[in-house]
Amino acid sequence: MSAPTLSKALYPKVRRIVFPFGQPVPMDKYFVDGNIPLSHLIAQMSFVFPPGEEAFIRSVRRYSHLITDPGLKKRVAGFIGQEAVHGLQHRDLNDKLVEMGYRGWELSENLGKKNEERENRMDAQWPPAQYPEKYRLARFAMLAATATAEHGTAVLAERLLSLPEAQALMTDPEVKNLLNWHAFEELEHKSVAFDVYRAVDGPEWLRVAIARVTAATIVPVLVIGSLISILGCDRGALRRPIKIAKDVVQVFKHPIMKGLRKDMKLAGRRGFHPDDIDTTPLLDKWNAELFGDNGALLDHLK
Ligand SMILES: [Fe+2]
Ligand SMILES: [Fe+2]
Repeated sequence: MSAPTLSKALYPKVRRIVFPFGQPVPMDKYFVDGNIPLSHLIAQMSFVFPPGEEAFIRSVRRYSHLITDPGLKKRVAGFIGQEAVHGLQHRDLNDKLVEMGYRGWELSENLGKKNEERENRMDAQWPPAQYPEKYRLARFAMLAATATAEHGTAVLAERLLSLPEAQALMTDPEVKNLLNWHAFEELEHKSVAFDVYRAVDGPEWLRVAIARVTAATIVPVLVIGSLISILGCDRGALRRPIKIAKDVVQVFKHPIMKGLRKDMKLAGRRGFHPDDIDTTPLLDKWNAELFGDNGALLDHLK
């Protein structure tokens, strides 16, 4: 078994935290800068995060019996803890979003549950430790998908935390706090699933294939998801087609979109490693900003 690539980082730190959404100021329906499609997009992403992050955790935990490196073991524990807390906090936000009329939460949760049941059946019938060859590729594919998703969230996180224009989009204070914290921790653990994949000798061709398909489809999937969300639950918005069209143009012209596809494609290169992109100065800056002596989120920690 090959040795894991040691990340420059960082053991991801699990922070118990809570966000008082809608207090004291109620949330606007279009809580992302008044932009209709962008608010729907963030709402749908928030619906997908908790079951998605649970799937990420399962895909990594499945290989925990093979991880011998103490540093990687510790990073895996941090990754699992962080993703579990992300799910909890996004579910809190999701309750608020459902109250505000957004739909899609149940679909995400139900799909996540079905997926989990299917995976649990597979793992119970063919425990990975005893039957490593059974469903070998399927299991590697789930881990490679997690490593790919982690690259995607790291790309978005870096943009969110480094572009003032991206910070300006987050006009709801508690959603801003949540997304900044989530983005920060995504950067802290961005290479953990990737290093587990390498440590257990996951095939590079499979990881590259999954990363390339994801990079080619992710933007259209997000756009379609946002539009379906508007069509499915927002009659008020549908009476304002010109506003929606202007908002779509605003999104595509936004600096956060510049070079996005190119950055997403980076993970599709053979030999790519998430730490090839050095985000430690950004992490240092935001660590001070959020959790330093006068950190903006100190009063949110439990
Ligand atoms: Fe997360
Ligand atoms: Fe993550």
